[in-house]
Amino acid sequence: MLLVKRGANVTIVARNETKLKEAAEEIRAFQVSRDQKVIYISADCASPSGTKEAIKKASDEHNGQIPYHVFLCAGQSLPGMFIEQDPSVFERNMNINYLGSVYTAHESARLMAENGVHGSITFVSSVLGFFGLVGYSQYVPTKYAIRGLADSLRNELKAYGINVHCYFPATILTPGYDEENKTKPNITKEIEGTDEGQTPEVCAQKMLDGLDRGEYFIASDPLGWIFRSSCSGLAPGNNIISDTILSLVGWVALPIWRTYADYLVKASSKQNNKTKTH
Ligand SMILES: *[C@@H]1O[C@H](CO)[C@@H](O)[C@H](O)[C@H]1NC(C)=O
Ligand SMILES: *[C@@H]1O[C@H](CO)[C@@H](O)[C@H](O)[C@H]1NC(C)=O
Ligand SMILES: *[C@@H]1O[C@H](CO)[C@@H](O)[C@H](O)[C@H]1NC(C)=O
Ligand SMILES: *[C@@H]1O[C@H](CO)[C@@H](O)[C@H](O)[C@H]1NC(C)=O
Repeated sequence: MLLVKRGANVTIVARNETKLKEAAEEIRAFQVSRDQKVIYISADCASPSGTKEAIKKASDEHNGQIPYHVFLCAGQSLPGMFIEQDPSVFERNMNINYLGSVYTAHESARLMAENGVHGSITFVSSVLGFFGLVGYSQYVPTKYAIRGLADSLRNELKAYGINVHCYFPATILTPGYDEENKTKPNITKEIEGTDEGQTPEVCAQKMLDGLDRGEYFIASDPLGWIFRSSCSGLAPGNNIISDTILSLVGWVALPIWRTYADYLVKASSKQNNKTKTH
């Protein structure tokens, strides 16, 4: 919607045709010019062939124009306790969250490089791409994987003039979030505490703001800023002064928060054991 407001030709890709159609109609309402195009393609991007087909269709529909800015935001979360979950969940989440992104990035980058398009690829990880927490063992690794891919490609795709970005939103209030809430362990909810979440519109705006500022790692809230500054490895920073202040805050606050989270998990296990022995 924000891109359409800026006059871009937009293609949205997902699996569910009904939802896509609705979404496309919704964002078409924001078109600013008559020759602007908003199209949707139903495809399964968790397979290389599905991705290839989707990108080819997108180009065909836009007069052969290769997608110039690519946003990779598919993902799902199904929280639960590690030892209680069915092992199939690890594969499924990796397929949707990571492989979907890597296949789409691969085909997009290949086409951009071959056609001399100096576009951009924006990955969507999560604040949980910076730290792990009880209940998210099936999710956090997929978001770390995306960050690792972005870090590698940020460097490598410079060879073709393609910009890479990685976004780390906090809780997004989507239908997926309500689903997630159903299986989320109580202990996870307790540690997350007051994280109120952001609407998808606010999240998208924060991502575009970060892209406008030319940031590589983009975070959407104070917790995300602290983690971004404290845990970014070889990634370039955004602002040397605020990044330094934020990493100092992290240096003090993160160990305290970790201690608190460990304490809560231990306390909950004692409680569980008590109820079992009685
Ligand atoms: C969008 O597509 C139309 C029709 O193909 C084209 O005339 C226009 O230049 C495109 N706009 C942008 C911003 O690429
Ligand atoms: C697509 O989404 C609609 C509306 O949410 C839902 O009723 C339908 O079952 C979905 N179709 C598939 C194939 O998942
Ligand atoms: C999540 O589930 C809890 C019950 O475990 C409920 O109290 C809470 O309102 C739900 N939150 C959301 C955002 O749905
Ligand atoms: C989680 O908390 C809710 C009340 O908030 C309770 O009804 C439910 O039984 C708890 N679940 C577990 C697994 O302890």
